[in-house]
Amino acid sequence: MTAGPIGGAGGDDAAAYVSVRGVGKTFERDGRRTEALAALDLQIARGEFVAVVGPSGCGKSTLLRLIAGLVAPTRGEVVVDGAPVRHPLTDIGVVFQSPVLLDWRTVLDNVLVQVELRGLDPRPYRTRALDLLGRVGLGDFTDRRPRELSGGMRQRTAIVRALIHDPPFLMMDEPFGALDALTREQMRLDLEKIWLDTKKTVLFITHSIDEAVLLADRVVVMSARPGRIEREITITMPRPRGLAARQDPQFIRTTHEITELFLARGVLHQETSA
Ligand SMILES: Nc1ncnc2c1ncn2[C@@H]1O[C@H](COP(=O)(O)OP(=O)(O)O)[C@@H](O)[C@H]1O
Ligand SMILES: [Mg+2]
Repeated sequence: MTAGPIGGAGGDDAAAYVSVRGVGKTFERDGRRTEALAALDLQIARGEFVAVVGPSGCGKSTLLRLIAGLVAPTRGEVVVDGAPVRHPLTDIGVVFQSPVLLDWRTVLDNVLVQVELRGLDPRPYRTRALDLLGRVGLGDFTDRRPRELSGGMRQRTAIVRALIHDPPFLMMDEPFGALDALTREQMRLDLEKIWLDTKKTVLFITHSIDEAVLLADRVVVMSARPGRIEREITITMPRPRGLAARQDPQFIRTTHEITELFLARGVLHQETSA
Protein backbone atom coordinates (compact mmCIF):
# COMPACT_ATOMS: atom_id res chain seq x y z
CA MET A 1 0.00 0.00 0.00
CA THR A 2 1.04 3.55 -0.57
CA ALA A 3 1.10 6.02 2.25
CA GLY A 4 -2.53 7.09 2.26
CA PRO A 5 -3.35 10.35 0.57
CA ILE A 6 -3.71 12.99 3.21
CA GLY A 7 -6.81 14.49 1.76
CA GLY A 8 -7.46 17.75 0.04
CA ALA A 9 -6.24 21.23 0.86
CA GLY A 10 -5.70 21.66 4.56
CA GLY A 11 -4.83 18.01 5.15
CA ASP A 12 -2.86 16.83 8.14
CA ASP A 13 0.04 19.22 7.90
CA ALA A 14 2.07 17.52 10.65
CA ALA A 15 2.17 14.25 8.71
CA ALA A 16 3.23 15.89 5.45
CA TYR A 17 6.63 15.22 3.89
CA VAL A 18 6.29 18.36 1.79
CA SER A 19 4.29 21.26 3.12
CA VAL A 20 3.74 24.37 1.04
CA ARG A 21 2.18 27.02 3.26
CA GLY A 22 0.66 30.17 1.83
CA VAL A 23 3.36 30.33 -0.80
CA GLY A 24 3.23 33.04 -3.43
CA LYS A 25 5.78 34.15 -5.97
CA THR A 26 5.98 37.42 -7.84
CA PHE A 27 8.81 37.87 -10.32
CA GLU A 28 10.20 41.30 -11.05
CA ARG A 29 12.15 41.84 -14.21
CA ASP A 30 12.87 45.14 -16.00
CA GLY A 31 10.36 46.86 -13.75
CA ARG A 32 7.63 44.41 -14.73
CA ARG A 33 5.95 42.32 -12.09
CA THR A 34 4.58 38.89 -12.87
CA GLU A 35 2.54 37.20 -10.20
CA ALA A 36 3.32 33.57 -11.01
CA LEU A 37 1.70 32.00 -7.97
CA ALA A 38 -0.98 33.30 -5.64
CA ALA A 39 -0.99 32.05 -2.04
CA LEU A 40 -0.85 28.30 -2.39
CA ASP A 41 -1.14 25.47 0.11
CA LEU A 42 -0.15 21.92 -0.71
CA GLN A 43 0.82 18.90 1.32
CA ILE A 44 2.48 15.77 0.02
CA ALA A 45 2.70 12.70 2.24
CA ARG A 46 5.81 10.55 2.39
CA GLY A 47 5.67 8.00 -0.40
CA GLU A 48 2.79 9.71 -2.12
CA PHE A 49 2.68 10.29 -5.89
CA VAL A 50 1.21 13.72 -6.55
CA ALA A 51 0.65 15.04 -10.06
CA VAL A 52 0.12 18.72 -10.77
CA VAL A 53 -1.75 19.54 -13.94
CA GLY A 54 -2.40 23.01 -15.24
CA PRO A 55 -2.16 25.23 -18.29
CA SER A 56 1.11 26.52 -19.65
CA GLY A 57 2.39 29.51 -17.67
CA CYS A 58 0.30 28.85 -14.55
CA GLY A 59 3.36 28.51 -12.34
CA LYS A 60 3.93 24.73 -12.27
CA SER A 61 7.68 24.96 -12.81
CA THR A 62 7.85 27.82 -10.33
CA LEU A 63 6.13 25.62 -7.76
CA LEU A 64 8.67 22.86 -8.35
CA ARG A 65 11.57 25.31 -8.10
CA LEU A 66 10.16 26.75 -4.86
CA ILE A 67 9.89 23.31 -3.31
CA ALA A 68 13.40 22.39 -4.51
CA GLY A 69 14.75 25.60 -2.97
CA LEU A 70 15.92 26.92 -6.34
CA VAL A 71 13.90 30.12 -5.96
CA ALA A 72 12.71 31.84 -2.79
CA PRO A 73 9.01 32.53 -2.23
CA THR A 74 7.75 36.10 -2.08
CA ARG A 75 5.49 35.03 0.77
CA GLY A 76 4.77 31.88 2.73
CA GLU A 77 7.14 29.01 3.35
CA VAL A 78 7.99 25.52 2.17
CA VAL A 79 8.87 22.76 4.63
CA VAL A 80 10.37 19.48 3.44
CA ASP A 81 10.89 16.60 5.85
CA GLY A 82 10.41 18.90 8.82
CA ALA A 83 12.92 21.57 7.77
CA PRO A 84 12.11 24.95 6.19
CA VAL A 85 13.57 25.14 2.68
CA ARG A 86 16.07 28.00 2.52
CA HIS A 87 18.71 26.58 0.17
CA PRO A 88 18.59 24.24 -2.80
CA LEU A 89 17.68 20.77 -1.57
CA THR A 90 20.37 18.21 -2.20
CA ASP A 91 18.59 15.00 -1.28
CA ILE A 92 16.28 15.06 -4.29
CA GLY A 93 16.25 13.83 -7.85
CA VAL A 94 14.98 16.14 -10.58
CA VAL A 95 13.99 15.28 -14.14
CA PHE A 96 13.23 18.01 -16.66
CA GLN A 97 11.57 17.87 -20.07
CA SER A 98 14.95 17.94 -21.76
CA PRO A 99 17.28 15.26 -20.42
CA VAL A 100 20.47 17.38 -20.77
CA LEU A 101 22.96 14.56 -21.30
CA LEU A 102 26.65 15.00 -22.05
CA ASP A 103 27.18 13.67 -25.53
CA TRP A 104 30.85 12.78 -25.04
CA ARG A 105 29.99 10.44 -22.17
CA THR A 106 28.41 7.03 -22.32
CA VAL A 107 24.97 6.34 -20.87
CA LEU A 108 26.55 4.82 -17.77
CA ASP A 109 28.90 7.76 -17.30
CA ASN A 110 26.04 10.20 -17.75
CA VAL A 111 24.25 8.51 -14.87
CA LEU A 112 27.41 8.68 -12.76
CA VAL A 113 27.73 12.45 -13.36
CA GLN A 114 25.20 12.89 -10.58
CA VAL A 115 27.43 10.99 -8.15
CA GLU A 116 30.56 12.86 -9.23
CA LEU A 117 28.87 16.26 -8.89
CA ARG A 118 28.03 15.33 -5.33
CA GLY A 119 31.67 14.57 -4.63
CA LEU A 120 30.97 10.88 -4.06
CA ASP A 121 33.19 8.04 -5.16
CA PRO A 122 31.45 6.73 -8.31
CA ARG A 123 32.84 3.20 -8.07
CA PRO A 124 30.30 1.76 -5.60
CA TYR A 125 27.48 3.30 -7.66
CA ARG A 126 28.38 1.51 -10.88
CA THR A 127 26.54 -1.68 -9.93
CA ARG A 128 23.48 0.26 -8.89
CA ALA A 129 23.59 2.29 -12.12
CA LEU A 130 23.84 -0.87 -14.23
CA ASP A 131 20.98 -2.44 -12.28
CA LEU A 132 18.72 0.61 -12.69
CA LEU A 133 19.60 0.94 -16.38
CA GLY A 134 18.72 -2.73 -16.82
CA ARG A 135 15.40 -2.21 -15.11
CA VAL A 136 14.41 0.53 -17.55
CA GLY A 137 15.42 -1.54 -20.58
CA LEU A 138 18.81 0.08 -21.20
CA GLY A 139 20.94 -2.88 -20.17
CA ASP A 140 22.35 -3.26 -23.69
CA PHE A 141 22.96 0.46 -24.13
CA THR A 142 25.11 1.40 -21.16
CA ASP A 143 28.18 1.96 -23.38
CA ARG A 144 26.36 3.99 -26.02
CA ARG A 145 26.50 7.74 -26.47
CA PRO A 146 23.30 9.76 -26.01
CA ARG A 147 23.10 10.60 -29.73
CA GLU A 148 22.73 6.88 -30.48
CA LEU A 149 19.57 6.69 -28.35
CA SER A 150 15.93 7.47 -29.02
CA GLY A 151 14.23 10.29 -27.13
CA GLY A 152 12.58 7.85 -24.76
CA MET A 153 15.89 6.14 -24.03
CA ARG A 154 17.57 9.47 -23.33
CA GLN A 155 14.80 10.39 -20.91
CA ARG A 156 15.12 6.96 -19.22
CA THR A 157 18.80 7.73 -18.74
CA ALA A 158 17.87 11.05 -17.13
CA ILE A 159 15.45 9.27 -14.78
CA VAL A 160 18.12 6.78 -13.73
CA ARG A 161 20.54 9.68 -13.20
CA ALA A 162 17.94 11.32 -10.92
CA LEU A 163 17.62 8.12 -8.90
CA ILE A 164 21.23 6.93 -8.71
CA HIS A 165 21.97 8.53 -5.32
CA ASP A 166 18.72 7.04 -3.98
CA PRO A 167 17.00 10.29 -3.02
CA PRO A 168 13.72 9.94 -1.11
CA PHE A 169 12.06 12.63 -3.21
CA LEU A 170 11.75 12.71 -6.99
CA MET A 171 10.53 15.82 -8.79
CA MET A 172 9.65 15.67 -12.47
CA ASP A 173 8.78 18.68 -14.61
CA GLU A 174 6.91 17.58 -17.74
CA PRO A 175 9.42 14.75 -18.15
CA PHE A 176 7.58 13.12 -21.06
CA GLY A 177 6.54 16.35 -22.77
CA ALA A 178 8.92 15.98 -25.70
CA LEU A 179 8.13 12.32 -26.44
CA ASP A 180 5.74 10.82 -28.97
CA ALA A 181 2.45 9.44 -27.65
CA LEU A 182 3.43 5.77 -27.75
CA THR A 183 6.78 6.29 -26.04
CA ARG A 184 5.04 8.47 -23.51
CA GLU A 185 2.60 5.70 -22.64
CA GLN A 186 5.47 3.24 -22.21
CA MET A 187 7.35 5.71 -20.01
CA ARG A 188 4.25 6.09 -17.88
CA LEU A 189 4.10 2.33 -17.32
CA ASP A 190 7.84 2.19 -16.59
CA LEU A 191 7.74 5.10 -14.17
CA GLU A 192 4.91 3.52 -12.22
CA LYS A 193 6.91 0.31 -11.97
CA ILE A 194 9.98 2.15 -10.68
CA TRP A 195 7.81 4.02 -8.20
CA LEU A 196 6.16 0.82 -6.97
CA ASP A 197 9.64 -0.72 -6.56
CA THR A 198 11.22 2.24 -4.77
CA LYS A 199 8.39 4.07 -2.99
CA LYS A 200 9.80 7.52 -3.51
CA THR A 201 7.76 10.60 -2.79
CA VAL A 202 7.01 12.00 -6.24
CA LEU A 203 5.94 15.42 -7.48
CA PHE A 204 5.10 15.02 -11.14
CA ILE A 205 4.26 18.06 -13.24
CA THR A 206 2.42 17.69 -16.50
CA HIS A 207 -0.02 19.43 -18.78
CA SER A 208 -1.53 16.06 -19.71
CA ILE A 209 -4.75 15.33 -17.85
CA ASP A 210 -4.58 11.64 -18.79
CA GLU A 211 -1.02 11.24 -17.56
CA ALA A 212 -1.82 12.92 -14.24
CA VAL A 213 -4.84 10.70 -13.56
CA LEU A 214 -3.11 7.50 -14.68
CA LEU A 215 -0.01 8.06 -12.56
CA ALA A 216 -1.00 9.83 -9.39
CA ASP A 217 -2.42 9.02 -5.98
CA ARG A 218 -3.68 12.58 -6.02
CA VAL A 219 -4.10 15.07 -8.84
CA VAL A 220 -3.70 18.76 -8.06
CA VAL A 221 -5.42 20.91 -10.66
CA MET A 222 -4.09 24.44 -11.08
CA SER A 223 -5.76 27.48 -12.57
CA ALA A 224 -4.23 29.89 -15.05
CA ARG A 225 -1.77 32.51 -13.76
CA PRO A 226 -1.54 33.53 -11.05
CA GLY A 227 -1.56 29.85 -10.24
CA ARG A 228 -3.91 28.61 -7.56
CA ILE A 229 -5.06 25.14 -6.67
CA GLU A 230 -8.50 24.68 -8.16
CA ARG A 231 -9.14 21.14 -7.05
CA GLU A 232 -7.44 18.11 -5.54
CA ILE A 233 -8.68 14.72 -6.61
CA THR A 234 -7.67 11.47 -4.95
CA ILE A 235 -7.24 8.60 -7.42
CA THR A 236 -7.86 5.16 -6.01
CA MET A 237 -7.53 3.01 -9.13
CA PRO A 238 -5.63 -0.18 -8.30
CA ARG A 239 -1.98 -0.49 -9.36
CA PRO A 240 -0.26 -1.30 -11.53
CA ARG A 241 -2.38 0.81 -13.84
CA GLY A 242 -1.67 -0.80 -17.15
CA LEU A 243 -3.14 0.10 -20.50
CA ALA A 244 -6.57 -1.07 -19.32
CA ALA A 245 -6.71 1.74 -16.74
CA ARG A 246 -7.88 3.99 -19.56
CA GLN A 247 -11.16 2.06 -19.52
CA ASP A 248 -11.55 2.35 -15.74
CA PRO A 249 -14.71 4.32 -14.86
CA GLN A 250 -12.69 6.40 -12.40
CA PHE A 251 -10.24 7.38 -15.15
CA ILE A 252 -13.07 8.33 -17.49
CA ARG A 253 -14.95 10.23 -14.78
CA THR A 254 -11.92 12.10 -13.46
CA THR A 255 -10.44 13.13 -16.80
CA HIS A 256 -13.90 14.35 -17.75
CA GLU A 257 -14.17 16.32 -14.49
CA ILE A 258 -10.82 18.04 -15.05
CA THR A 259 -11.62 18.76 -18.69
CA GLU A 260 -14.93 20.34 -17.65
CA LEU A 261 -13.11 22.44 -15.06
CA PHE A 262 -10.63 23.69 -17.67
CA LEU A 263 -13.52 24.45 -20.05
CA ALA A 264 -15.33 26.39 -17.32
CA ARG A 265 -12.18 28.38 -16.56
CA GLY A 266 -11.43 29.15 -20.19
CA VAL A 267 -8.24 27.07 -20.15
CA LEU A 268 -9.81 24.92 -22.87
CA HIS A 269 -12.18 26.20 -25.52
CA GLN A 270 -14.79 24.10 -27.28
CA GLU A 271 -15.61 24.94 -30.88
CA THR A 272 -19.37 25.51 -31.25
CA SER A 273 -19.49 24.62 -34.95
CA ALA A 274 -19.57 20.86 -34.36
N1 LIG B 1 12.71 33.86 -13.58
C1 LIG B 1 11.57 34.44 -13.98
N2 LIG B 1 11.49 35.76 -14.18
C2 LIG B 1 10.35 36.36 -14.59
N3 LIG B 1 9.20 35.69 -14.84
C3 LIG B 1 9.21 34.36 -14.67
C4 LIG B 1 10.38 33.66 -14.24
N4 LIG B 1 10.08 32.32 -14.17
C5 LIG B 1 8.79 32.23 -14.53
N5 LIG B 1 8.27 33.43 -14.83
C6 LIG B 1 6.87 33.70 -15.24
O1 LIG B 1 6.02 33.11 -14.26
C7 LIG B 1 4.89 32.52 -14.89
C8 LIG B 1 4.84 31.04 -14.53
O2 LIG B 1 5.91 30.36 -15.17
P1 LIG B 1 6.17 28.80 -15.01
O3 LIG B 1 6.26 28.47 -13.58
O4 LIG B 1 7.34 28.47 -15.85
O5 LIG B 1 4.82 28.18 -15.62
P2 LIG B 1 4.51 26.69 -16.15
O6 LIG B 1 5.62 25.80 -15.73
O7 LIG B 1 3.19 26.33 -15.52
O8 LIG B 1 4.38 26.78 -17.64
C9 LIG B 1 5.04 32.78 -16.37
O9 LIG B 1 4.29 33.92 -16.71
C10 LIG B 1 6.52 33.03 -16.54
O10 LIG B 1 6.77 33.87 -17.64
MG1 LIG C 1 6.91 24.62 -16.81
